[in-house]
Amino acid sequence: MEKGRAQWGSKIGFILAAAGSAVGLGNIWKFPGRAYEGGGGCFLLIYLIIVIFLGAPMMLTELSVGRASQANIVGVFHNLGRKNFAWVGWVGILGAFIITCYYAHVGGWVLRYVAGYATQSSAIYSDSLGYFYNMLGLHSDGTTSIPWTAILFAALFMALNAIIIIRGVEGGIERFNKIGMPALFILLLILLVRSVTLDGAEKGLEYMISLDWSKVNFSTFLAALGQAFYSLSIGMAIMITYGSYLPRDENIPGNTALICAMDTLVAFLAGFIIVPAVFATLGENEIGKGGGFAFVSLANVFHQMPGGTFFGVLFYLLLLFAALTSCMSLIESIVAFLTEHYAWKRTPTTIIVCIIMFLIGCLYTCTQAAVPLKGIWFDATNGVTFPPFCDFMEYLTDRIMIPVCALGVAIFVGWVWKPENAITEVEQCGVRFRLAKVYSILIKYVAPVAILTILIMSIAAGITLS
Ligand code: PHE
Repeated sequence: MEKGRAQWGSKIGFILAAAGSAVGLGNIWKFPGRAYEGGGGCFLLIYLIIVIFLGAPMMLTELSVGRASQANIVGVFHNLGRKNFAWVGWVGILGAFIITCYYAHVGGWVLRYVAGYATQSSAIYSDSLGYFYNMLGLHSDGTTSIPWTAILFAALFMALNAIIIIRGVEGGIERFNKIGMPALFILLLILLVRSVTLDGAEKGLEYMISLDWSKVNFSTFLAALGQAFYSLSIGMAIMITYGSYLPRDENIPGNTALICAMDTLVAFLAGFIIVPAVFATLGENEIGKGGGFAFVSLANVFHQMPGGTFFGVLFYLLLLFAALTSCMSLIESIVAFLTEHYAWKRTPTTIIVCIIMFLIGCLYTCTQAAVPLKGIWFDATNGVTFPPFCDFMEYLTDRIMIPVCALGVAIFVGWVWKPENAITEVEQCGVRFRLAKVYSILIKYVAPVAILTILIMSIAAGITLS
């Protein structure tokens, strides 16, 4: 191992950091909306199959490539003697950069909601949709303004990230994760019970378990693939960076299975909480795009449970924490790359990169409702629809860059570096990798063919930005 390279302090530290990266806004803010748009039950099924047959092998691959090469995501390909694959790393870095821009802003909204539930819960309960719009600068009288509150909270969220990254990841975060993760899980179980027993929730529940294949097309597969990879933090080479800090005696397959299972469970729980709550809150006709689900519909759940306000604060605090640990992993991989590749200093690099990403992200928050763009995206009959800029950021990363980067990694390991090397790396911990054969087939044939087919078919089917 190279001298001086950081390593995870403990086994649990790594699992929590990787699971912390995986479990985030993607699970609770994005997944329910995607599942809803993708037709409920069918989407869940497709998602699950993708996680098992593509997501898990890809995570295992990224972790072992990272550990074997001991480098950041561009350096990996240099260290393993394949410079011509460095573009894969660049796509990953750029993807992480774009995602962080908006991720930190949604993290800011979560922070706003922590404060909101603590101090103004009755305002949220009386008009949850209005409260959400208001935060984004769209007021009940139809006027709009620059959403300063949301921007301020996003700045705070980004600053928190920067501080943690500068100080290094262990210590506080690892310790907090040990309590935060199980707490989030238990809280989700409690909310699940409340949500599915709300008046009108049955329809949502039915929707989530119904298998209506008429809503499924190639776009659904691409959405599920993008969402699964996004949620597992793969296809952006984050797990390569995290794997590079992993000690040799760690059992990679065991960790992979655990992280994938935790991540998927949290996403499914969120889906089964939020979609039924949406049906109960907004009614079928008013369900627009899924972006506001986690903010709007849950008010009904908290409002109608004993101690709801307390649970509201707790829920957004935990979501905030989940978002922080994910956002940190994105920034960490960018900073690790810049400091290693260009030999820049960690502190100024972190500060500058965070400021740039925060500023670009302001466009995301502002275009939700800001004055100059009103009319372009706000449609009075359909309610809030995401403006082209937001769609574009998410489309570009989830549907193009993540699959492309993952495809590059799969081809690299399947055909260039060879699965045998990955397997040798995996077995460094002294335990035989029993699924080695299956893994080789998956990474060599199934992953590249599946990812490529889904990409091509979707483009051919004429996916348009909506
Ligand atoms: N997996 C995180 C989530 O679900 C987001 C993320 C994507 C983090 C890519 C790192 C890399 O919220």
